[in-house]
Amino acid sequence: MTDLTIAHSREELAAARRELAGTVGVTMTMGALHSGHAELIKQAREQVDHVIVTIFLNPLQFAQGEDLSRYPRTFESDVEICREYGAQLVFAPSPDVVYPEGEPGIRVAAGPLGSVLEGASRPGHFDGVLTVVAKLLHLTQPDKAFFGQKDAQQLLLIRRMVRDLDFPVEIVPVATVREGDGLALSSRNTYLSDADRDVALSLSTALKAGAAMAETGPAAIRRAARDVLVREPLAIVDYLVLVHPTTLEQVPEWYRGPALLAVAAKVGTTRLIDNLPLVVG
Ligand code: PAJ
Repeated sequence: MTDLTIAHSREELAAARRELAGTVGVTMTMGALHSGHAELIKQAREQVDHVIVTIFLNPLQFAQGEDLSRYPRTFESDVEICREYGAQLVFAPSPDVVYPEGEPGIRVAAGPLGSVLEGASRPGHFDGVLTVVAKLLHLTQPDKAFFGQKDAQQLLLIRRMVRDLDFPVEIVPVATVREGDGLALSSRNTYLSDADRDVALSLSTALKAGAAMAETGPAAIRRAARDVLVREPLAIVDYLVLVHPTTLEQVPEWYRGPALLAVAAKVGTTRLIDNLPLVVG
């Protein structure tokens, strides 16, 4: 097991970062680490010499009335997971370290791809995400940064930002980690009661049902997924879409090729998202 340094300030981070010789990878998180985050750290460990994990609950990406105040905070066990999976450095700043002037006047604009799907329900969310990701990339200076496919739109937007704004970093996607029954791991799953959890399972079940029709075509995929969700009225669906993986536009009926089947729904008081990449035809 490696020594783990915990940095809270910019100065501590800069000093510890200077000590890391060789290639560096970063895994950014908002804490409440689970096996999905652990998988990102593990894959990073396999690809670079040193792994930095950032733990920062970014207020900028939460709107008024969202779950910032009740978001789970489990710092001690987060650090243990980082240690167990071989991270060298944890950067866990407070909001005033990341935003010393308060809310930043300059932000990264996610643009049109940031205002559909998640962005339609959460205006400004992706500007907040991209702004903090840009800052954390500058502060940690990694060769590679690892992000989960679980947040497909976030991953796409980060790739676009890095390309459009010439960030010198490689973005590495990591497949979604699921429970044995298919439920995608999420820090927000801790909000679910046992009954909610059964309802939540309908999201991944719907995606699987859709993917099973991948060879038939878009209409069959959408219908199969929708049929699962209509049988679960307690899942309040925000969207269920079959979109092109880079434009996020709905694919037409004649479409054949790569696509993303994505769903968002409210279960109890918790908004959940999930997706499956698939090939139509
Ligand atoms: P958070 O929700 O903590 O997720 C951190 C990283 O873990 C993201 O890249 C996310 O896609 C990935 N992840 C979450 N659940 C996963 C799962 N079941 N399987 C695989 N990867 C999973 O996403 C954020 O934080 C924030 O928006 C952040 C990028 C840190 C910016 O604040």
